[in-house]
Amino acid sequence: MQDLAGKHLVLGLTGGIACYKSAELCRLFVKAGATVQVVMTEAAEQFITPVTMQALSGRTVYTSQWDTREPNNMPHINLSREADAIVLAPCSADFIARLVQGRSDDLLSLMCLARPMDRIPLLIAPAMNREMWAHPATQRNLMQVSADGATVLGVGSGWQACGETGDGRMLEPAQLLEDITAFFQPKLLAGQKVLVTAGPTFEALDPIRGITNHSSGKMGFAIARAAREAGAEVTLVAGPVHLPTPRGVTRVDVLSAQDMFEATTRAAQGASIFVATAAVADWRPATHSDQKIKKDGSGKTPVLDFVENADILLTVAKSERAQAKKLFCVGFAAESENLVEHAKAKRERKGIPLLVGNIGPLTFGQDDNALLLVDAQGVRELPRASKLTLARELMTEIAARLPDWSV
Ligand SMILES: Cc1cc2nc3c(=O)[nH]c(=O)nc-3n(C[C@H](O)[C@H](O)[C@H](O)COP(=O)(O)O)c2cc1C
Repeated sequence: MQDLAGKHLVLGLTGGIACYKSAELCRLFVKAGATVQVVMTEAAEQFITPVTMQALSGRTVYTSQWDTREPNNMPHINLSREADAIVLAPCSADFIARLVQGRSDDLLSLMCLARPMDRIPLLIAPAMNREMWAHPATQRNLMQVSADGATVLGVGSGWQACGETGDGRMLEPAQLLEDITAFFQPKLLAGQKVLVTAGPTFEALDPIRGITNHSSGKMGFAIARAAREAGAEVTLVAGPVHLPTPRGVTRVDVLSAQDMFEATTRAAQGASIFVATAAVADWRPATHSDQKIKKDGSGKTPVLDFVENADILLTVAKSERAQAKKLFCVGFAAESENLVEHAKAKRERKGIPLLVGNIGPLTFGQDDNALLLVDAQGVRELPRASKLTLARELMTEIAARLPDWSV
């Protein structure tokens, strides 16, 4: 999926061990459809060669303001004017200090100072030893560069090249790609608090076995990511799935439908949008054995009895908050046939403004899907696309309905 298609990025490297990760970052940018112009400080060249960065970006690398390749001899002007953003990764403590002071004694700092601030965002991925990171001078400088309009992408925590462990590692290339892709998405849901449920539930029979379903959680995780990209504060209540948490999303892991009910109804009290994508078990075994249910050799099979689980979507949709129109509820229906009729009926039964239908066997575990949006006005299809693309479209559809909706 080419999330950065049409974007032109200046990737600035400064002197730090994390320069080795910039090679991968450059590759990911290119893979995501961006064109990349690499600019390096003299110190960065001590850590990785321009040859590597040229080969990966497919463009010659700039390292000096005295580079005569540009007809007007002003690479700091020409290169920045073409960019959709300047990304500094890694950004050294020294370089942050130079940005704060408005220094411009090398090409990269000169380019940052000379960039039109209203048009060309500056994104910073710091990387340094944990003591350098924690130092008041660095923290003060970071606050100042943010106040001056730069976006600081944060740091990771863990083992550092110096042998110490702590905060200050550069974020991983895949994390930076996710953050930078999010940066370019329109902030349609800024100020909203979005609650998403995702994945299957697991209804235990005994300590070994249980009843679950084929939901992979991919659609719900894509929705959580898209909501975050759109500027919302996002809580994701996830059933048992092995998917990475989208960047910036608060995740609550649950197992059974009852756990999911409790976590979701609690989080719904502060939410403004609720998207119920989880495939919640309708029933759970009436009894739970503390020990494994064993064969006794008689050929007799166990008789399973079930009780109905609480309806999470219905409970949230009937809550005071939803009824007072402070909580916009979106349901998902995974059907195996007659999608339109089932989706329409489910929307009415739950009393919600928007119901999204999909065909279960065509979506479970897949990376793409097709959705059917059913609201009071009628039915609209979002044709087959990646789940993230559909999730972003769904966020646009929700944002458009927020000012005025009916059940
Ligand atoms: C082996 C080595 C590793 C370094 N790693 C870092 C680092 O990760 N982060 C950092 O801020 N500075 C680091 N430094 C110090 C910077 O390279 C130094 O401050 C340099 O002047 C930065 O120049 P620049 O900001 O122009 O790229 C390191 C220095 C050495 C010798």
